[in-house]
Amino acid sequence: MQPRHPEPVEKVLCGLREWLTENPVDFILHGGDLVEHGNEKLITRFAEKLTSMPCPAYLCLGNHDLDSPDSYELWKEHHMGLLPKNKPNYKLEFDDVNVYVLAVSYAGAPQPYYWETAHIPVISDQQKHDLEQYLAASTKPVILATHVQVNAIPSSQTGLCGEVGEPDCQYQRYLIDLARRFPMLHLIMTGHNHVNTLARFGNLITMTTNAFTETPFDLRVVTIDDKNIEVATHSLRPWIDPQAEFNAEFSWALGGPSQRECTIPVRKAKHDCSCSA
Ligand SMILES: [Fe+2]
Repeated sequence: MQPRHPEPVEKVLCGLREWLTENPVDFILHGGDLVEHGNEKLITRFAEKLTSMPCPAYLCLGNHDLDSPDSYELWKEHHMGLLPKNKPNYKLEFDDVNVYVLAVSYAGAPQPYYWETAHIPVISDQQKHDLEQYLAASTKPVILATHVQVNAIPSSQTGLCGEVGEPDCQYQRYLIDLARRFPMLHLIMTGHNHVNTLARFGNLITMTTNAFTETPFDLRVVTIDDKNIEVATHSLRPWIDPQAEFNAEFSWALGGPSQRECTIPVRKAKHDCSCSA
């Protein structure tokens, strides 16, 4: 969409480090495609860089991270803490929220967590079982992070005829229905399409986030208390490269206020006994 700035990556990460010093956060969650190819050299290099930030950093594996048959094993060996307990699926638990990170597999590949060619995401029966058990037991709102988008980019955002980047129907249906069955699932955050979008499916909000290495270097900041989940989008262009080239033809990729910001009221768990009346 926008000019990409993978090199020098130091410039991008230096800007991020500086921004984090001024805007401290509890942790960073990278939404996937940290590397272009999942080989040992790139995995080691980028794991080292992301874990050198002034806060804990985690990774939701994306298709590019897993583009070789041995990528998954290489990540387990060289992630440097980006994958808690060496697992591609994991939970990050906090006072007011639980974050569930889910790495999908891809249709047609001969083994799990390998992206060969198809972009069709696959959630295994075991992953569904684990996720559903977790959602059923959670008394806090849950944010699900996975790499592949759940919603398309609407024509109202692009000005084009029809939607762009439609998600796989089966994948989308499963996740939307999951939120209907488990209301503690408030928000699904994804990447993959290099565009800031936001969609509503009943009480569920799904959003995709622009690629951080592309102008204007957007990231999402999620703030949570016992009443609301607030999502804001920040451009790090002033910290990374104020003169970075920007392609105005695709300015819709940044989204407007309704794609860049939202407030989600927190729903209480039915079995949460903390409200003694
Ligand atoms: Fe991707």
